[in-house]
Amino acid sequence: MSKGRFISFEGIDGSGKSTQAKVLAKTLVDLGHDVVLTREPGGSVGAEEIRALVLQGDPDRWSAESEILLFTAARRDHLEKTILPALDAGKIVICDRFADSTRMYQGLSRGDLRTLVDELHTLMIPRDPDLTVLIDLDPKLGLSRAKARNTVEERFEDFGISLQEKMRVGFLNLAEEYAERFRVIDGLRNIDVVAADVLDVVQKHL
Ligand code: ADP
Ligand code: TYD
Repeated sequence: MSKGRFISFEGIDGSGKSTQAKVLAKTLVDLGHDVVLTREPGGSVGAEEIRALVLQGDPDRWSAESEILLFTAARRDHLEKTILPALDAGKIVICDRFADSTRMYQGLSRGDLRTLVDELHTLMIPRDPDLTVLIDLDPKLGLSRAKARNTVEERFEDFGISLQEKMRVGFLNLAEEYAERFRVIDGLRNIDVVAADVLDVVQKHL
């Protein structure tokens, strides 16, 4: 087992994960910790190339099965090149989304492929987060926040509100399934209040 700590953020699009991951990273650095802030899909050169393939273009561009392979390939590269070396060096790795997103977006969105996701995960992904912070938010709010960003990476947001509703319920169920590592935080408050709750959960864990 590596020396560092691995923290992931999960939640629907626009729930505030990236904002909170950034605030947490800065706070932990200010407290004297060695921190690596990273994200999925991406976080290594190869995985960032896969990111463009999966997040841009037509919603029907890939089947859920093809996506599972692409996200898992990106994750494997991200682990090999970025996450595991940082954990071995004793750093705190903060990751904006990880395998729980695949369990939801590919495992649940277009039929029940959760078993396939979990099987591939077991075969290919040797490390899980020690702590997962789920930012919970009403999908209507999440989607309007996400759409306001106006980027080209909107393939999943373009699946619409019903997908986001399904993802929200799915994430809350996942938090019960993996209760030992999940902590759920209400994202419907201002950024500083949410950040204080996140820090509290992380400090208890550390
Ligand atoms: P995610 O990474 O979950 O998609 P972001 O952190 O990118 O979400 O936030 C989406 C948008 O909502 C951004 O424009 C961000 O500034 C804004 N935002 C984030 N957290 C809050 C909050 N607690 N209240 C209001 N707006 C927020
Ligand atoms: P992200 O950039 O975190 O989007 P957002 O800031 O809107 O939450 O992730 C981009 C999209 O990728 C998001 O809609 C969810 C999707 N995704 C998957 O479908 N499977 C995965 O395994 C991961 C990591 C992300």
